[in-house]
Amino acid sequence: MESSLPLVIDRAAGQALHLQLAEQIRAAVLDGRLQAGHRLPSTRDLARQLAISRAVAQSAYDQLHAEGWIEGRTGAGTFITDVGPLRPAEPRRTASPPEPERSLLTLRPGIPYIDPTPDPGWRRAWREVSSQSPPRGYDDAAGLPALRVALAEHVGRVRGIACGPENILVTNGTVHGLRLLLGVTREPGDRIAIEDPGYLNAVAAAQDHRLEIVDIPVDRDGLQVSALTDDLPAVYVTPSHQYPLGGRLPVARRNELIRWARRTGAMLIEDDYDSEFRFDVAPLPALAQLDLDRVVHLGTLSKTLSPALRLGWLVASEATVVQLADFRANSGDWPGWPMQAALLAMLRDGYLDQAIRKHRRRYAERRTRTCSVLAPYGRVIGQDAGLHITLLLSNHIDDREVSAAAREAGVAVGPLSDYRRTVSGPPGLVIGYATPTTDDLHRALEILTEVLLRAGSKG
Ligand SMILES: Cc1ncc(COP(=O)(O)O)c(C=O)c1O
Repeated sequence: MESSLPLVIDRAAGQALHLQLAEQIRAAVLDGRLQAGHRLPSTRDLARQLAISRAVAQSAYDQLHAEGWIEGRTGAGTFITDVGPLRPAEPRRTASPPEPERSLLTLRPGIPYIDPTPDPGWRRAWREVSSQSPPRGYDDAAGLPALRVALAEHVGRVRGIACGPENILVTNGTVHGLRLLLGVTREPGDRIAIEDPGYLNAVAAAQDHRLEIVDIPVDRDGLQVSALTDDLPAVYVTPSHQYPLGGRLPVARRNELIRWARRTGAMLIEDDYDSEFRFDVAPLPALAQLDLDRVVHLGTLSKTLSPALRLGWLVASEATVVQLADFRANSGDWPGWPMQAALLAMLRDGYLDQAIRKHRRRYAERRTRTCSVLAPYGRVIGQDAGLHITLLLSNHIDDREVSAAAREAGVAVGPLSDYRRTVSGPPGLVIGYATPTTDDLHRALEILTEVLLRAGSKG
């Protein structure tokens, strides 16, 4: 049966006539008005019916034919193809936009201060990138060769890790590097030791790879190395500033950890997320400085420049770097060229060092202020390094309740309990002082002290 579809041509619609026709026929197939096997009019008849040129009708049919909606049978005409049961997609329900969150002053850890006016050094790096053409191919799964050279020099100079470009893999930050490492070097069911309390993203990474997590207690100095048993093949650790308690693993414990790993063959995963910031204390050797065969070191720009850059580096034995790069060569999952080229420019130009120096001065002041304001309300720990301190509270206080009350009063601050898994310990607050402006920090601390006072935490 020939089609007598009510096709409509609208010459004022601003859409080509053959596209209008094709669209209406497609819609009729989708909503069932035109069934498989239905015969369409010849292009000559269609042109006559709609007062259009035959060329327009032919173009519409050509288009539909190319897309597989219709087929021509020699001598018999043009028919709707059997496209199978196809329902038009349900119109998408757009969720009503979330209520804008009342703006909170933030004392959450982890995000550095971002200067609203970019420095000349930052702008220079991007100008340099924009003046270059991108590389041609897919060759640099481990990272841009020149950037790997510059990063090897950087970690040698600032972290004392003796290494070459063959030991460097450029990542999208710590968590990306950690997930890649776990995915490539661990098997589901393998055990991994993680500090407790510890970094929840590391826990999530291990869980997602179906590893069995063994919680290792932490004291004021960091990981309790004596709690490691010989059957643990991997350990995730934050030795430069334990997250979240802030301990700096003493040299003797570092040596003990390395000796343990050498004896058992375990892999130590060193998360060096904020080691650039340390106040009035001498640097401690990175674990990777002590033994690059046993340690995989993870560094990041997230605390020095911004987490939004999604850029970091992994330092490991050459064999591990090759293994990870081979995996990435197939997955295509490595940082884009512009970001890597910009970091290279920032390293060559000294911009990264300069930005760190500037931030260090800013954070030193804030840290002093934060510690002195909060000292009467609990025990301040972890203040020697990084971008946050932890305030331990007396045992009768519920830190989640304090956090909720602070939120109610306009301040976002995380309870220490949120970082704990099975190892119990005192309540507390994990307080980042880097993110807000200095004025906002002062206001936030003032509000927090009122909340703590109400919670009965003074004295
Ligand atoms: C313990 C720890 N490691 C690493 C990071 C940074 O992760 P990324 O480099 O993926 O941004 C953070 C940020 O909050 C952190 O707290």
